[in-house]
Amino acid sequence: MYVCLCHGITDKAIAKAVREDGIGSTRELRAKFGVGSQCGRCIQMAQDIIDTTIIDESLFKEVS
Ligand code: FES
Repeated sequence: MYVCLCHGITDKAIAKAVREDGIGSTRELRAKFGVGSQCGRCIQMAQDIIDTTIIDESLFKEVS
């Protein structure tokens, strides 16, 4: 699913950047992909994906 249509960035790409590159904020996401730098409509959804991915990651670490 596309989150940022202006830059063609998907939810999977954002989740991957959080997991593999340690992205933890929309500011970092903007620096990496340009997410939110044009119309800005994707910011809230991008933030939700960052939050959900971080929560999933921390649950996974506790279990393992
Ligand atoms: S949809 Fe992301 S900046 Fe427009």
